[in-house]
Amino acid sequence: MRKVGIAGVGAYVPSKILTNKDLEKMVDTTDEWITTRTGIKERRIADDWQASSDLAFQAAQCALADARMEPKDLDLIIVCGVTFDYPFPATACILQDKLGATKAGAMDIEAGCTGFIYSLSVAYGYIATGIYDNILVVGSDVLSKITDWQDRSTCILFGDAAGAVVVTPFQGQGELLNFYLRSDGSYKDDLLIPAGGSRNPPSHKTVDERLHYMKLNGPEVFRLAVRVIEDAVVALLERAHLSKEEISLFIPHQANIRIIQTAARNLGIPLEKFFINVNLYGNTSAASIPLAFYEALKEDRIKKGDYVMLVGFGAGLTWGAYLIKW
Ligand code: ACO
Repeated sequence: MRKVGIAGVGAYVPSKILTNKDLEKMVDTTDEWITTRTGIKERRIADDWQASSDLAFQAAQCALADARMEPKDLDLIIVCGVTFDYPFPATACILQDKLGATKAGAMDIEAGCTGFIYSLSVAYGYIATGIYDNILVVGSDVLSKITDWQDRSTCILFGDAAGAVVVTPFQGQGELLNFYLRSDGSYKDDLLIPAGGSRNPPSHKTVDERLHYMKLNGPEVFRLAVRVIEDAVVALLERAHLSKEEISLFIPHQANIRIIQTAARNLGIPLEKFFINVNLYGNTSAASIPLAFYEALKEDRIKKGDYVMLVGFGAGLTWGAYLIKW
C-alpha cells in the first residue's frame, strides 16, 4: 500500500451575506434566539444562477492551484453533497466538463454532511492501492435551494459553500492516516427531503405540501450528533493508537456551536482544540468540513507534523472521522 496525502486545499463561498437581522424580516425569529441556540451570526447565499457544480468549480480551481496541478492531471473527480445540480447526471460529470478534466472519471457520493469524510476514504483506497494518482474531492452544497424559507426552525441554520482537496501519493504533506465510517438508516426520518425521489415522486401535491424542502427533527438530531461525534472521536483514536491529547486540532462538522461545545465537554477536550466557523457560514453540509479545513490552514491553526481529526455527522444517519498528519 502506498502512503496517501493532500497536495492542495481550496474553498469558495458566495459573496452574498444573509445576517440574522435579515432573517428577522423574513420569519418570526430574533438575532438573539439564533445566536444563543446555534452560534450562527450570518451565512452565505448563492446567486439564483449558481448550482452545486458552480460552487464546486471555484473551490476545485483553488485546490488545483494550491496543488500546482492542471485539470488534465486528474484521474478521478468525486463530488459529495445533498444538493446536486440534477437527480442525474452526476454533478461530478458537470464539474469534469467545466474544468476540462479530459482524463478523469467522475462520480457523486451522497452521505449527507459526512460526505467529505466518506469521499476522502474512497480517494484513499484508489491511491493507496496504486489504481489512481490524482483525485479531486469536492464537498459542495447549495442548501438555500432546498430550504423552506417559511420554516423558522430550519431556514436559520443553513448556508451555501464548497471546499475541495487534491489527493495524491504522499509528497510530505497531509498524510491520510486512518478513518472511521458509520451509519444508521433507522434515523432516516429525522433529516430528509420527503419528496422528489422514487419513494414520493414529485407532483403538484408534494409541492403544495412543501415536501420538496428539507425537514429536520432538530432536538433529536442534536442529541444524535453529540453522541456520534463522541463515538467517532473515541473509536478513531483507539484505532490509531493515539490519545486525545496528541490531536492538535479537531475540525468538526459546523452545524451548531452547542453541539460542538457539548461533545467537547463530554469528551474532556478543551473547546480551543475545536476549529469553529459556524458563526460565519452556518451549516454548509458536505462543504462544512473542507471549508473549515481550508480556513484552519489559512489561519495557521495547523502546523507541519500536527495530528488533525475531521469529524462529521449528517443525514442518513451517517457519521465518521478522518485522521490526518499534516
Ligand atoms: N426563532 C425563534 N424561535 C424558534 C425558532 C427560531 N428560528 N425556531 C424554533 N423556535 C422555537 C420553537 O418553536 C420552540 O418553541 P416552543 O417551545 O414554544 O414550542 C422553541 O424555539 C424551542 O425549539 P427547539 O426545536 O426545541 O429548539 P432547540 O434548542 O432544539 O434548537 C435547533 C433548535 C437549533 C434546530 C437545534 O435542535 C439543532 O441545532 N439541532 C441540530 C440541527 C443539526 O445539526 N442538523 C444537522 C443537519 S446536517 C445535514 O445533513 C444537512
